[in-house]
Amino acid sequence: MNKDFKSWMMILVFGLPLFLILFLAALYFGNCGFGQECGYSNLPEIIHTPIPTLLPASLPTPQTGPGSAAATRCTVQAETLLAAWVNAGVPERQPFAFTDVNGIACQATFADLQPLFAEGNLWYTGAVACTTCHNSTLSAAAAGMDLSDYTGILAGSRRASLEASGNDILGGGDWAASKLNEQLFVLEKMPFGRPQGAVPAGGPTLLAGEPLPEP
Ligand code: HEC
Repeated sequence: MNKDFKSWMMILVFGLPLFLILFLAALYFGNCGFGQECGYSNLPEIIHTPIPTLLPASLPTPQTGPGSAAATRCTVQAETLLAAWVNAGVPERQPFAFTDVNGIACQATFADLQPLFAEGNLWYTGAVACTTCHNSTLSAAAAGMDLSDYTGILAGSRRASLEASGNDILGGGDWAASKLNEQLFVLEKMPFGRPQGAVPAGGPTLLAGEPLPEP
């Protein structure tokens, strides 16, 4: 027993350093070989991750000024746009002329002003669209009026059915006399339930139409 313990101790004391030396030698000769210099000759060649040559960024340079991309739309307030449309005789497809906030002569079509009736969040933050209340379900729609398309708008308010036409809300082509102007900008009632001061005088500003070509 005692002798056993002694010999194990001997093996440990002399054996461990021996193993350490063997281990280090294995590491060294294993990787460097037996040559004079450690030439890394056995090591695999380093392969760099291939990174493709970066393509140069090629976004078009933004341009400003007349004739540039930024100037292809006009900035206009709802009141100006609606007034120009009504006073031009409420054309459906024909363009009508107006002057935008920068004094540029512009033209637009009905499609440009339709968002004023059909889009929520436009007249003020959180506003519902006119068409939420004024739509083709006339019996349920407020004031029996459908503002969801051209025909509906022209048919007017307080309609008994989809076939019937109602009261003209466009003043017969005279914006100042129209119910639309009265409700939106004189009495400032629509969009119905608007908080006081939420809608800027003249209504929301939008991008619409395009500058008239230079004569
Ligand atoms: C929350 C529902 C609601 C929204 C949204 C709404 N309206 Fe109205 N609207 C009404 C109600 C209700 C009446 C009837 C008010 C009354 O009789 O005094 C009305 C009446 C009108 C009238 C008068 C019709 C008439 O002959 O008396 C016009 C014009 C009108 N709305 C336009 C609009 C426009 C344009 C918008 C969007 C900018 C709009 N409304 C958004 C509920 C709404």
